[in-house]
Amino acid sequence: MNSSSEGASIIGTGVPRVDGPLKTTGSARYASDYNFPGLVYAVPVCSTIANGKIRSLNTSLAEGLPGVLTVLHHGNFGPVFRMPPGRGGRVSEDRAPFEDNTVYYWGQYVALAVAETYEQALAGAAAVRVEYDSLPPNVATRLDDVHGDPHVESTRGNPDAAFASAPVQVDETYVTPAETHNPMEMHASVAIWDGTKFTLYESTQGVVNHLNVMAQVLGVPRDNIQIISKFIGSGFGGKLFPWPHSALAAATSRKLNRPVKLTLSRKMMFADVGHRPRTQQRLRLGATPDGKLVSLRQDYRNHTSFIEDIKENCGEATPFLYSTPNLTVTSQLVQRNVGTPTPMRGPGAVPGLYALESAMDELAIKLKMDPVQLRLVNDTLIDEEKNKPFSSRHLKECYQVGAEKFGWSKRTPEVGSMKRGDVILGWGVAAASWGAGRGECNTNVTLNLDGTARVSCGTQDPGTGTYTVFAMVVSEKTGIPLEKIDVVIGDSSLGAGPMSGGSTATATILPSVSEAAEGAVKAVLIMAAKSNGSPYFGKDPDSLAMSNGRVHAKGESPDAGIPFQEALKFAQVAYANGDAHTGGLGSDTKAHDYSMHSFGVQFVEVEWDPGIARLRVSRVVSVVDGGRIINMKAATNQMAGAVVMGVGMALLEHTIYDPRNGHAINDNFADYVVPTHADAPQIDVHFLNIPDPQMGTYGARGIGEIGLAGVAPAITAAVYHATGVRVRELPIRIEDLLTAKA
Ligand code: MOS
Repeated sequence: MNSSSEGASIIGTGVPRVDGPLKTTGSARYASDYNFPGLVYAVPVCSTIANGKIRSLNTSLAEGLPGVLTVLHHGNFGPVFRMPPGRGGRVSEDRAPFEDNTVYYWGQYVALAVAETYEQALAGAAAVRVEYDSLPPNVATRLDDVHGDPHVESTRGNPDAAFASAPVQVDETYVTPAETHNPMEMHASVAIWDGTKFTLYESTQGVVNHLNVMAQVLGVPRDNIQIISKFIGSGFGGKLFPWPHSALAAATSRKLNRPVKLTLSRKMMFADVGHRPRTQQRLRLGATPDGKLVSLRQDYRNHTSFIEDIKENCGEATPFLYSTPNLTVTSQLVQRNVGTPTPMRGPGAVPGLYALESAMDELAIKLKMDPVQLRLVNDTLIDEEKNKPFSSRHLKECYQVGAEKFGWSKRTPEVGSMKRGDVILGWGVAAASWGAGRGECNTNVTLNLDGTARVSCGTQDPGTGTYTVFAMVVSEKTGIPLEKIDVVIGDSSLGAGPMSGGSTATATILPSVSEAAEGAVKAVLIMAAKSNGSPYFGKDPDSLAMSNGRVHAKGESPDAGIPFQEALKFAQVAYANGDAHTGGLGSDTKAHDYSMHSFGVQFVEVEWDPGIARLRVSRVVSVVDGGRIINMKAATNQMAGAVVMGVGMALLEHTIYDPRNGHAINDNFADYVVPTHADAPQIDVHFLNIPDPQMGTYGARGIGEIGLAGVAPAITAAVYHATGVRVRELPIRIEDLLTAKA
């Protein structure tokens, strides 16, 4: 059987987001937009110390204020529970909210004021008097007081001996700061308890995981809980796993028997819902004079909280990015009085590649070798860690395409040697990489009597374009136009689908929605062939096809056929149904033979104006080998957004914890600066668009995270080229550059 719309496939074209009009007209409902009769508001009281115990908590003033219903805290909250060992879902912080009177970080929730209006709840929270037994917090930025021995992440050969005898060596330490996720939409929960069941309106990157976690945390059967997350104002990883406010809202709803709304402030976003942890990474590279890497060693540390051991996986790409016989990657954690870290776009790989790619640039300079050439000399089509071929690695082509588009051959290597008017230009380059993954997925497609289609799956769209991918595939398989396809996601009661994480959602849903759509089409064709009155009655269903929303004989124009809903009418059924349960890469035995990753290259131009000490990223060419691209428009947009985020990482973003009290002192948009339009460079995005043969239907690998990888080290390489200053600690500060020779 096959069935596709006539003419060119919609897959790979640039399709405006099907949910765009709902968002731009304000009709899309986000978690905190839900209101219900009897709804009350909850506002957390946040700790003003970062280490110690609550000595006393006086709520009487707060509880006497108008509209305040209750103040909850460790003495009167619950029941809430931890996740069991073995889990079956991932929570951000194992510690249940209000579990005891210990404070581990500044801003930790210590009480919750609940009132009839938001303003009354705010006033109630402000009136709670908390006294602490405070200990000095540790938020030190040097990560030398390690907790545990180095953990060997990967090793082969003898990197120390090879480094010692290498003719050319680089041995430097690179530092990336704590960064805070700042999606437009802040975290929020609206919780309703109906006496038996919870309905939780959440801003989550994983409705199914949220369900699995909250059922355990609240101590109810999974059947008695439903998570709704129809629209999400982005997450960047900060909304992957449930945070304590969700349990606070839900348990309060059960306690008061009223719907509860809890929205975080931007300030709380800096304390209570994760961040990318600070990293400190020592890189040792040994090479021959012609640039062959003989040794590569990465010893990294990252800070974590006192509640959870969260590793920032900085060696994500190191073991396989380059060919080298001798390699070791180790990790270590350092505990700090900060909130628990969590994945942030390209977790591990992004700070890890800042270090590795910076070291590669330093090596190229020592070798007096072009930095692109150095990468090409060490390219490999074998993952030397796993000793497996890559399913599809075209990094070399990324360099070739990028160098051509950027004009790299015009680069003169001497520091400060390139000028445009009064400004000095710097050109830098760095590689990008991110893992490819695909999980299990359940999808349902129906083709309906009114000529529409419906596709549903228990996943969500945090702004990545997932709604549109579903609609595109159903349209491709049926020829039904996008505007007649209803995509139903953002609800945990639908068949379990993927988290929007790890750049895996697109690859995960593609085989599932294809199979479900094909199943529904097949049902239509059988109806056309087996129903009295159908012009195709008695035909072999395999001789029929569905295109342009019409059933027709294979080889005949769709115009000669009938609208698909006619077949339903002849069969007297309401809709044709297709269900799919597709497995992940783990269940795909063929995929086990391959190492699967996406690759890319970032070419960057900076302008350095020494007269006024002004640094600007002026131009970026971003080339990605991410497998097949499904929606060229959304994908290009995703990459361009990541480049802007990379400008923020290199030049601006930095969560600063006050050593006196552990407070993230720049916890607002005035002081935690993110790039705006004026900071955005000219961005050219190119996709190699080569399907990955091991990835399954369409061969897409997903591109959510890789766009950020490599941007910061390409910027610091360009800054070195312009100024002669090597910045090994992000973000680049103007004062770092005041020593510039140029
Ligand atoms: Mo991504 S950090 O898995 O949202």
